Amino acid sequence: MDPNRIICNCQAVTAGAIKEAVDSGADTVEEVQGITGAGTVCGACLEEVEKLVKSLVAQRNASQSS
Ligand code: FES
Repeated sequence: MDPNRIICNCQAVTAGAIKEAVDSGADTVEEVQGITGAGTVCGACLEEVEKLVKSLVAQRNASQSS
């Protein structure tokens, strides 16, 4: 994952910002939206945001349970 890649153009939210939101406790797209604003304008990035949030939450949970 390139942390500098822009996922949401409207809000200029990077993959790294989404990871930070997940690492700070967000578990859902809605929570990540609340923290970063990603996907709250045109919605074109929502599919990508959702995929990323899912995989980052899974990664976070996997690293915590070990
Ligand atoms: S690109 Fe994310 S809301 Fe428009």
